[in-house]
Amino acid sequence: MRLPWELLVLQSFMLCLADDNILHGPVFIQEPSSVIFALDSEEKKVKLNCEVKGNPKPTIRWKLNGTIVDIGMDYRYSVVEGSLLINNPNKTQDAGTYQCIATNSFGTIVSREAKLQFAYLENFKTRTRSTVSVRQGQGMVLLCGPPPHSGELIYAWIFNEYPTFVHQDNRRFVSQETGNLYIAKVEKSDVGNYTCVVTNTVTNSRVRGPPTPLILRNDGVMGEYEPKIEVQFPEMVPSAKGTTVRLECFALGNPVPAISWRRTDGKQIPKKARRHKSSSILEIPNFQQEDAGMYECVAENVRGKNVARGQLTFY
Ligand SMILES: *[C@@H]1O[C@H](CO)[C@@H](O)[C@H](O)[C@H]1NC(C)=O
Ligand SMILES: *[C@@H]1O[C@H](CO)[C@@H](O)[C@H](O)[C@H]1NC(C)=O
Ligand SMILES: *[C@@H]1O[C@H](CO)[C@@H](O)[C@H](O)[C@H]1NC(C)=O
Repeated sequence: MRLPWELLVLQSFMLCLADDNILHGPVFIQEPSSVIFALDSEEKKVKLNCEVKGNPKPTIRWKLNGTIVDIGMDYRYSVVEGSLLINNPNKTQDAGTYQCIATNSFGTIVSREAKLQFAYLENFKTRTRSTVSVRQGQGMVLLCGPPPHSGELIYAWIFNEYPTFVHQDNRRFVSQETGNLYIAKVEKSDVGNYTCVVTNTVTNSRVRGPPTPLILRNDGVMGEYEPKIEVQFPEMVPSAKGTTVRLECFALGNPVPAISWRRTDGKQIPKKARRHKSSSILEIPNFQQEDAGMYECVAENVRGKNVARGQLTFY
């Protein structure tokens, strides 16, 4: 809608004291933010916010992955006071990057990008897992193999029956990167059934894997051997300013190896760093430029030692 120039001047002259009535181009009051939609939630719609002022009143359109969304084409879409409402959001059709576009006779503004992501956690496909047999004193890894998912996961293992979970100590470790369970040195008391439990922190849904029975072989006991690092942090860890960085390190061995951390660039491990799970996790909160550098985890027992190295970079 375009008004004749004279009328615009007259109107702004008359209404210049009432701020809202001054003719001006569109301005964002609220731009859309990224949303993670939990697929199994009760809420069956998602809203991407956009609030704009302008005079004349701006018209609002939305872009998905750079293409204008044809609101009339899909009954699931509606634009309510600028915000985009999607009923029954569908991962294949709706996941992507959204932008709000506001236009009036003065011009057009485009909002920041907002991602719509979907969080979900499927069930484990397999129902059974074959028995694992190990010698007493040997190290062991049980794979979790989480089902398809989106959203951050937390892993734990049930020992025999729920609610008994595998207790993590210097001998037993559950990687939060892979979900795998590591036992540095198997003992008689470890015999039983192990079940991986996966929790999606976004949807709060939880699924259980098939149980894996663990039995002891009866052809002797494993002797002492030097640490073998099975869980190690990546060689390159790009870390954003202000984030919490978690490095994992765990070794199999007999006797049970001790884990320690150090820097190999002449600096000290920052004082704010915390060690968890018998030092298998080094956590550096509020990551800063001075925390970047070469880090090393050392796994040691009476038979020898092994190291894993990686570089933390700052961005
Ligand atoms: C989502 O959309 C895809 C493609 O149009 C379709 O195949 C699928 O069935 C839809 N999913 C649901 C849950 O409606
Ligand atoms: C939008 O782009 C993302 C990233 O390339 C892609 O995963 C998603 O499927 C796209 N969305 C649609 C609806 O095409
Ligand atoms: C492990 O599970 C199997 C099959 O469900 C069962 O027969 C066995 O008794 C269980 N073992 C233990 C130690 O609970």
